[in-house]
Amino acid sequence: MNPLKHVAIIMDGNGRWGLKYKKSRNAGHRAGLNTVEKIIKETINQKIKYLTLYAFSTENWKRPRKEIKYLFSLLEDFLITKIDELNNQNIKLKVIGIKNFSTKLNKLLNLAEKKTFKNTKLQINLALNYGSKSEIIIALKKLKKNNQIINEQNLTKYLQTKDIPDPEILIRTGNTQRLSNFLLWQAAYSEIFFEKKLWPSFERSDFKKIIKKYKTIKRNFGSI
Ligand code: FPP
Repeated sequence: MNPLKHVAIIMDGNGRWGLKYKKSRNAGHRAGLNTVEKIIKETINQKIKYLTLYAFSTENWKRPRKEIKYLFSLLEDFLITKIDELNNQNIKLKVIGIKNFSTKLNKLLNLAEKKTFKNTKLQINLALNYGSKSEIIIALKKLKKNNQIINEQNLTKYLQTKDIPDPEILIRTGNTQRLSNFLLWQAAYSEIFFEKKLWPSFERSDFKKIIKKYKTIKRNFGSI
């Protein structure tokens, strides 16, 4: 049976769900947050050690200001109301991406990371203002600055995921089949699952089905 340490998710479809059921994209983001909580529970249940969630890409700044503001206010509320609960459950929170948000949000994110730093049950990587190409370029610049040889091992050391195993599973909900600048390096050998359901409709049972399917896949890593 295939080992499973890390699941990465592109949580797509909030906007469409919100428009379809509540006539508001933002309502879809709120509903999406409920799914986040459900999936965290199932990740713990499955004894998976790392969960990476794509919450805001470097390209998402192109969205209307009102929607961006709402997303960040959701995230602030989440951090304020849930961080102690996450901490009590021995969950570590780490941000991947560049933290250049409001002073309030930056502080909340730093505090959440500091508070949960030593936790060991599950590590949640929140990809925020994250873009894989820019992550790789930053890593290459550091390699050059430190006069190091360019090879896989050295480059990996400078990625934001440096201490995290590559995801064995990458899920994208929302019936769209692309990677959208997410973990391009780290997902080189991930099993990719494109899920038709929109993120707010994605259930624990859907997640469990994907895990079950993954466990049966013959993973060759280029061999036969
Ligand atoms: C993509 O759906 C989703 C996002 C850009 C935001 C994801 C955010 C959440 C799930 C809530 C906040 C999360 C945390 C962890 C606090 P979309 O808006 O692109 O959907 P669409 O393709 O239907 O327009």
